[in-house]
Amino acid sequence: MTEWHKTGWRAKERVQMPDYPDAGALARVEERLRQYPPLVFAGEARRLKRALGAASRGEAFLLQGGDCAEAFDQFSADAIRDTFKVMLQMAMVLTYGAKVPVVKVGRMAGQFAKPRSAPTEVVDGVELPSYRGDIINELPFTPEARIPNPEKMLQAYTQAAATLNLLRAFSTGGYADVHQVHQWTLGFTESEKAAKYREMANHIADALDFMKAAGVDSDSAHTLRTVDFYTSHEGLLLEYEEALCRNDSTSGKWLAGSGHMLWIGDRTRQPDGAHVEFLRGVLNPIGLKCGPTTTAEDLKRLMATLNSENEAGRLTLIARFGAGKVGEHLPRLIRTVREEGAKVLWVCDPMHGNTIKSASGYKTRPFDAVLREVQEFFAIHRAEGTIPGGVHFEMTGQDVTECTGGMRALSDENLSARYHTACDPRLNASQSLELAFLVAEELKAVRAGARQAEAV
Ligand code: PEP
Ligand code: CO
Repeated sequence: MTEWHKTGWRAKERVQMPDYPDAGALARVEERLRQYPPLVFAGEARRLKRALGAASRGEAFLLQGGDCAEAFDQFSADAIRDTFKVMLQMAMVLTYGAKVPVVKVGRMAGQFAKPRSAPTEVVDGVELPSYRGDIINELPFTPEARIPNPEKMLQAYTQAAATLNLLRAFSTGGYADVHQVHQWTLGFTESEKAAKYREMANHIADALDFMKAAGVDSDSAHTLRTVDFYTSHEGLLLEYEEALCRNDSTSGKWLAGSGHMLWIGDRTRQPDGAHVEFLRGVLNPIGLKCGPTTTAEDLKRLMATLNSENEAGRLTLIARFGAGKVGEHLPRLIRTVREEGAKVLWVCDPMHGNTIKSASGYKTRPFDAVLREVQEFFAIHRAEGTIPGGVHFEMTGQDVTECTGGMRALSDENLSARYHTACDPRLNASQSLELAFLVAEELKAVRAGARQAEAV
């Protein structure tokens, strides 16, 4: 493979990236970002890679979730805390239900740039460039708002740094202490799942009391009182990513300093394209979205390029086919992975293949379809004897009305009540918890099956 340089992507074909009208302004922003500190440290990226390697062997499970697009005007401590809290609750449901360690990765602290299905948008006969995320342009439908402005990268960097700072504080400062398992239920909207969560929290508190009485508490105190929480985003805006790329002095390798894990989207995974070129050279764990149009040939080339050393935990394949289509696509890609002897972590994104336009005009996702895709993903891995290693969701701790269905049966007409996403519809707190219980059941079945197979 040819030598890699952080600017090498510039010679490749680029898609889904803005053309900045003011090259001087862009260069000044890039220069500033090159001087700023990276947001993450190489040792953290390596630790996440090891954890994902464990997930690829079925020894852990990845829970990746957060906003479709973080937004400047929705930036608040409460929003960060609530999403973090729901992820802790979901992780607790999985750990308790399936008895498996959960690797927690937020779509947070950097998830700003968005690929779009069309370069322009037409409203009432007026055509304007599409909104591409707050790091690039603005959502309001005016010509000025849609001009790409490089200065926005500086605001995104600041918001990512402040978000990560708070996440680190929550992770180690006491908020994520498992003894707080009851506290995390404050503000719960009542539902059958909330009651089920409380019951589980009682069992956990009971077990903690027992451990304390038995003298186990002090040794494991650190593990129980803190969590490892990582950040991730789509590595889309390559000027930003390149400017935050840093040489790791201990290994001589390059770190994408904008987040722990970066993924390549379904629209930017051309094997010869700019995004693949940039991400192949960084040491971070990398995700690759796989959709219905992913061919075996492309997947082979991408695995060879993105994980040339076949390192466990380096490459996560994020399957996003849509409910009813998993059976058509996942087995053929699993076969390709098997033929190549490639080490990958398989993860299910049941969101991006299930987006529809509702009768009321909102972009939505039927919760039923989300659940069905997760079930199909698990069923196929069971049939193939491969490992379903994680899930990838768009969710929020806010009580939004963006996806239809769920225990509280949101209908099309309800969507307008609290539809706040800047991009794709997210699961709300109650839907997220419901999904976690379903995933825990599926995972429990997988693990019971594996134990049975070992016993015979
Ligand atoms: C996303 O994860 O927000 C996204 C755009 O996904 P995909 O590339 O799979 O469509
Ligand atoms: Co999305």
